[in-house]
Amino acid sequence: MKKDLLSIADLNRKTVEHLIEQAWRMKKEGATPLLSGRTLALLFEKPSLRTRVSFEMAMYQLGGHSIYLSPEEVGLGKREAAADIARVLSRYVDGIAARTFSQETLHILAGNSSVPVINALSDLEHPCQALSDLLTIYEKKGRLPGLTLAFIGDGNNVANSLLLSACLVGMNFHLASPPGYEIKGEVLSQGKRFAIRSGSQIQLTNDPYEAAKDADIIYTDVWVSMGQEAEAKKRRRTFSGYQVGNKLLSLAKRDVLFMHPLPAHHGEEISTGLLDDPRSVVFDQAENRLHLQKALLVKLLSNPKVSGK
Ligand code: CP
Ligand code: NVA
Repeated sequence: MKKDLLSIADLNRKTVEHLIEQAWRMKKEGATPLLSGRTLALLFEKPSLRTRVSFEMAMYQLGGHSIYLSPEEVGLGKREAAADIARVLSRYVDGIAARTFSQETLHILAGNSSVPVINALSDLEHPCQALSDLLTIYEKKGRLPGLTLAFIGDGNNVANSLLLSACLVGMNFHLASPPGYEIKGEVLSQGKRFAIRSGSQIQLTNDPYEAAKDADIIYTDVWVSMGQEAEAKKRRRTFSGYQVGNKLLSLAKRDVLFMHPLPAHHGEEISTGLLDDPRSVVFDQAENRLHLQKALLVKLLSNPKVSGK
């Protein structure tokens, strides 16, 4: 049976730990042609730098090939129905990495595709980012369970995937967001279920200083995600007290890591110059997208292709 990665909730702790180990090994060993002859389609409804380039380089370094399909080219759900696109692509390629607005589109793609579908960011989740971030944390701290990650800002796609992955591997997760921007619904319920098993603690607060206290990692993301441009003015006002800078970092542990998935808005969600602070690991994070996704692609795309559906 083909396997998809649409949400962190599709994974278990053992698989996440295995992916991190494999990615770490691949980072040390460099390129090996484990996916020789395989092709990945990159089906994107939104812009990207890191996700597109890291997936393309991952396939190249694994001896495979990738095809980037831009929003204008495909017209996902406009020029052609998502279900039909999935059925057509399955006849050509061995995997689909899709960046969509709605999570529902990913489910339609996966439900109609005979090849694995990977969530390359949706409005609900960004699982490849969160898994790569666990690799970065593991690399820097030498362990995951028991560490505390404090996410300051919007309870968005990146925060959702981080909450789920932290709770899966036994890390504590704090979120400080303005009222109304918390993590909620099924993501929070699933996170709590994971936390019961792993021993993670979840703290949701409106106070960034409370969340940052004694944290091992301070993490933030943009206040206006792709697709929320119409709310930009209101969001900038609402989030203005949630900027990450020196004051917040000084409340965390002395060896705190500062993380951000990028792109960053200097002087908005982060103080100007923060990316160059010695505590910042944001460019290691960006690099690790490549290594983690190589491990993921080998896991999902190694099996022989099931013929058309
Ligand atoms: N972090 C991340 O996914 O970056 P891109 O939007 O540039 O792919
Ligand atoms: N939350 C951001 C993440 C970008 C990588 C967005 O969805 O635009």
